[in-house]
Formats: sequence, C-alpha cells, structure tokens
Amino acid sequence: MKRFFLKILVVVRGLVRSVLYMFNIRRPGYWYWGDLRRFTSMVENVKGDFAEIGVWRGEASRKVIRLALIQSKKTHLIDSFRGMDDPGSFDSDFHPKGRFDVGGLAGFRLIMESHGFSKDEYFAYDGLIPTCFEKVPNDVRFSFVIIDVDNYTPTRDTLNWIWPRISRGGILALDDFNAMSDTDCSKAINEFLRERSDYSRLDFFNCQLFLRKEM
Ligand SMILES: C[S@@+](CC[C@H](N)C(=O)[O-])C[C@H]1O[C@@H](n2cnc3c(N)ncnc32)[C@H](O)[C@@H]1O
Repeated sequence: MKRFFLKILVVVRGLVRSVLYMFNIRRPGYWYWGDLRRFTSMVENVKGDFAEIGVWRGEASRKVIRLALIQSKKTHLIDSFRGMDDPGSFDSDFHPKGRFDVGGLAGFRLIMESHGFSKDEYFAYDGLIPTCFEKVPNDVRFSFVIIDVDNYTPTRDTLNWIWPRISRGGILALDDFNAMSDTDCSKAINEFLRERSDYSRLDFFNCQLFLRKEM
C-alpha cells in the first residue's frame, strides 16, 4: 500500500513538473527531459558517447541513457557514489563531505535497477575525482557531457580531463553556474571560460550553461 502511494506521488510530482515546464518555470539545477532532448539532438552527427560526472541517484543519468540510446551511443557515469569530498578553501559550506552518499557503486546500481535500468545499459566508474578518471578507457570520446559536482576542485579537474576528450561540435552542460560568483564550481567554470577560446556559448538558463566545442 505504501509503495502504491509512493508511486502515485512520483507520478503527480512528474505531472506538476511538466505543467510548470510548459510555462517555462524550472527548478534551478534540475535537468529537464525537454532541455536535454534539445541539446542532445544537436550532437546527433557528432561522434562520441554521452557522460554525466556527478550523478547522485541517477535522476538525470536515466534521461541521458535514454537519449544516448536513441543515437545508438553509450553513457558513462562517474561519481564517488560516496558523496562529496572535503570542501576546499574556495567552497562554501553547502556541500559537506559525504553529502549525496548513495552507498557506493552497489547502492547506485540498486537504485538504477529499481527504475528498470540494468548494469549493462551504462558504464559506471566510482572513486574520487580525479583518481576515478583512470578507470575510463583512454580512447573514449564524448559528444554530450553534464558536469555537476558542485565544488571548485572536482569541477576544475573534471573540466581539464574531459575537454580534450570532447569531440569538435560536442556539447558540455554545466550545472549551478553563477557568472558573478567566485566560489564553488562557478569559480572553476569562470576560470575555464577565461582561459579557453575554443568554445561557443549555446545557452544559459536555470543556472545551467551549455557550451559547444568549436575546435
Ligand atoms: C549535485 S549531485 C549530482 C546531481 C545529479 N547530477 C542529478 O542531477 O541528479 C553532486 C554529485 O557529485 C559527486 N561528487 C562531488 N564531488 C566529487 C568528487 N570529488 N569525486 C567524485 N564525486 C564527486 C557527489 O557524490 C554527488 O553525487
């Protein structure tokens, strides 16, 4: 009975979100299907898989996996699955160590299974950034990537690692960006935008910045 009411609650929540979305009202930092579909459709002819770095319970990942399958591409998910690392000196106190812990990779796979996703439908790499990147095969290239790891150092390290692996024409989506802020992930993103010129800004809304790699 409890499960039934929980399912009803999830459906109602989804409906409310869809109606608000139709009126262009978005929850900051939430990855909407319609937005993801719009941007992933722009990379249909760009070579490379999809990825999300900073996955938590996989709510956005499940959309990314579905969208990747439409293009016969694979999805790579990267996270400690044990939550945040210690914040650094450029981070605010919003994300203490261990926040977003889902019980490790095994815990994450259970969540995905409860949503009907088997472990064969995605690649997952666990561990702290940047060490976890060593688990990703060296020849993997990306056409669509979400980075959503909140703090300064993991965002900076992820940008440095992923950018050379994004194909020309590929899209990078960055969450929680505030151009006026010089803390947390915004500091790393601002530095990246200042230091590089091989991108164009596609869009910015809902605290989410979309870049296309140009060279
Ligand atoms: C805000 S949550 C991601 C939310 C997810 N993108 C979504 O839309 O549902 C941030 C994630 O980044 C991961 N993360 C943050 N810092 C990390 C680090 N240094 N190494 C590995 N994972 C990290 C956390 O474990 C957490 O799952």
